[in-house]
Parts: sequence; C-alpha cells; structure tokens
Amino acid sequence: MSQQHTLAIGLEGIAVAETDLSLVDGLNGLLVYRGHWARDLAINHTFEEVAHLLWYGHLPNEQELAELKGKLNENRELPDHVKRILDLIPAEVDMMSVLRTGVSALGSADYSWPPTLDQVISLTAKMPTIVAYRYARLNGREPQEPNPALDHTANYLYMLKGQEPNPAHVRALDAYLILTQEHGMNASTFSGRVVSSTQSDLISSITAAIGALKGPLHGGAPSEVTEMIEAIGTKENAEPWMRAKLEKGERLMGFGHRVYKTVDPRATALRVVASQLSGDDPWFDLATHVEQVGLKLLEEYKPGRKLNTNVEFFAAAVMRAVGLDDTLFTPTFAVSRVVGWSAHILEQAKNNRIIRPQSNYTGPMPK
Ligand code: ACO
Repeated sequence: MSQQHTLAIGLEGIAVAETDLSLVDGLNGLLVYRGHWARDLAINHTFEEVAHLLWYGHLPNEQELAELKGKLNENRELPDHVKRILDLIPAEVDMMSVLRTGVSALGSADYSWPPTLDQVISLTAKMPTIVAYRYARLNGREPQEPNPALDHTANYLYMLKGQEPNPAHVRALDAYLILTQEHGMNASTFSGRVVSSTQSDLISSITAAIGALKGPLHGGAPSEVTEMIEAIGTKENAEPWMRAKLEKGERLMGFGHRVYKTVDPRATALRVVASQLSGDDPWFDLATHVEQVGLKLLEEYKPGRKLNTNVEFFAAAVMRAVGLDDTLFTPTFAVSRVVGWSAHILEQAKNNRIIRPQSNYTGPMPK
C-alpha cells in the first residue's frame, strides 16, 4: 500500500492559515472583522472605511479616507483594450464569466508578485466598472463613465442604472457589500490564496477566486434563491414545492452553510435591511414565508444537520429591492469580496509558503 496522509475531504475543520482579518464563529453565529463586529461596521461605516480596515489594519481617519477614495476614483476607468475585449464576448455569456475575462484582460505586468496595496485598490476600483460596462451594453445603453463625485457603492449603482442612485438604495447596498467583503477561508478566498502562494500575479489569483465564487454551492446561490421563490409563486405552494425538492434529494438554495451551524449573522442583518426597503412588497412577504417553511422542512428531512438560512437568501432580497436583476447578484458579490480576497492575498504574501496539500493514491500499482 502506498503512503497515506490524513484525509480531510472538503478540508472540513482544517485550518490552513492564521489570519488577522476575520473571525467566523459558526457555532455562536459571530462575524468579526479585525476586532469589529461586521454587523456594526455595516450599520455605522461605509464600503471604503471597511475596505481600509481590512487592507491597512485600522479604520481610516479623515485624511486616510480621502486618500483611499481618491485612489479608487483615479483607478475606476477601464483600459480601451479591456473594453474592446468585453465587446467581443457574445451576449449569452453569463456575467461572472464576463467579469472573469475582463479582470484577466487587465494583464499581469502592473499586478506582478508580490501584491501591493496600490494593485489591490486599482483592481477593486475597476471591477464594478467591468460589470456596469457590460450591463449597459447588454441593455443597449452607452456605458456610463465613472462619476468622480460619487463614492464606490453609489458609483456602481450610477454606472449600472445610468442615473443618480436613490440614497436609500446606496445605503442598503453599502451594508450588503460591507457584510460580504470578508469571510475567512471560504472556497474563493482559498483559491486566491493558493494561486498567490505560487508567487503568481494578483490578476491570476483573483480570476481563480472569481471562478470559485461562480459556483452555485458558493456565490452562485442568490439568483437560484429568486428562481426558487418565483417558481414557488404563492404561499400555498411553498410547502408542496419544497417538499417535492427534498423528496428528490435536492437542495434548497439559500439554506445551509459549512461553518454556520446556527443563524448566519449576515442573514440576520440583511433581513433587516431588506425588510426596511421592501415595505409591503409581496415578493418579500413570500420570501419570508418560504424561509419559515424551508427551515421547518429541513428540520424534518435533515434532522440534526443544523441547516439555517444563509447570507445568500437575504442577499437576493436586498439586491432585488435596490433594483438589481439576478444576472447581477453574484457579480455584485464579487465586487464586494474582492476586498477580502485581496486582503488575504496581501496577508499570504507577508509570510508565504506554497500551499501544496497531498492526495492518497487509491489506484493500482504497476505490475
Ligand atoms: N438543502 C437540503 N439539504 C441540505 C442543504 C440544503 N440547502 N444543505 C445541506 N444539506 C444536507 C446535505 O444533503 C447533507 O445531508 P446528509 O447528511 O443526509 O448527507 C447535510 O445537509 C450536510 O450537507 P453537506 O453538503 O455535507 O454540507 P457542506 O458543509 O459540505 O455544504 C453548502 C455547505 C454547500 C453551503 C450546502 O449547505 C448547500 O449546498 N447549500 C445550498 C447552496 C447555498 O445556499 N450556497 C450558498 C452558501 S453561502 C456562501 O457560500 C456565501
């Protein structure tokens, strides 16, 4: 028998790094970014302030915040060749693939190893522009140039919609983007760290992370949540529809999490944000009913698995309430998570060792 190593399928319960960035306590439902409750950051701070906290290690003072905003503003525009490449991609290609290609087209020369703060700010600034550029083209509009008078989240909404955004929408989306900036060693962050650990460039690391986020078991879930709620259609249909899914052994999207065995604190915070915006919207009323029925049925079909509503369930509700359609849900998640990915990549580079696990051979030996 060949040499065997400790086997951890799905790497469950295995720590692969020490990090100062976030604590994800799945037993107690806690999320901390560098010593601050993520929930409080979402209520009291802005996208730029929390990005500064994750990248630089502290919340910015006035001058530091102005500098960061200035750098983001200077870097929002896309090089012409990136726009031309985006224009060549057929309309039916999904937005996450377009984002991955757009980021890749930024090249590697300006983003070579080791990663720097200037590199991560430049890339973070451009990701919303890529999504909005493509979205405008798909909707037959001339893409809107970034507006230097607007902050990151407002700029994103402005470029997507082609008009000044509603301040309540900016605030709600900002809260969502803050709550999803960082989340420990999730699949996409791990992918980015693995690539960066080979001393590859920042763009290669982030395209790997985008690829991982795209999957429906990770960041691809929110559009499937809206599809599920639309397919259910009425409160009366919620139980038979979800029961039929579970009978077939299928999963209910927006429920369950590898780490959270109690309520996902991001879902709790986003439920409040979504309900404030949704008022008496029948869609939101149906969504909260679907949540309650889903939780009851999961307890019946999967007792003891501790399956709760995850961030994706209410992410869908918030993004829908601010007027983003479901093609934008996962790309908007990426626009936020690039902050956490890049903070991890910077952290990895400080004390880099190539990430290189093992596999146990189960095939035959040569005769
Ligand atoms: N619906 C029905 N059953 C589920 C669900 C679900 N949403 N999630 C887990 N289960 C069941 C599994 O079938 C399994 O049952 P078993 O013990 O009978 O085999 C058990 O619960 C444990 O599931 P695992 O797949 O081992 O859990 P894991 O930690 O590997 O997966 C995951 C976590 C991928 C999030 C899973 O819960 C899932 O597929 N959820 C639906 C997709 C989703 O909402 N993804 C977004 C996650 S949040 C994020 O990434 C930002």
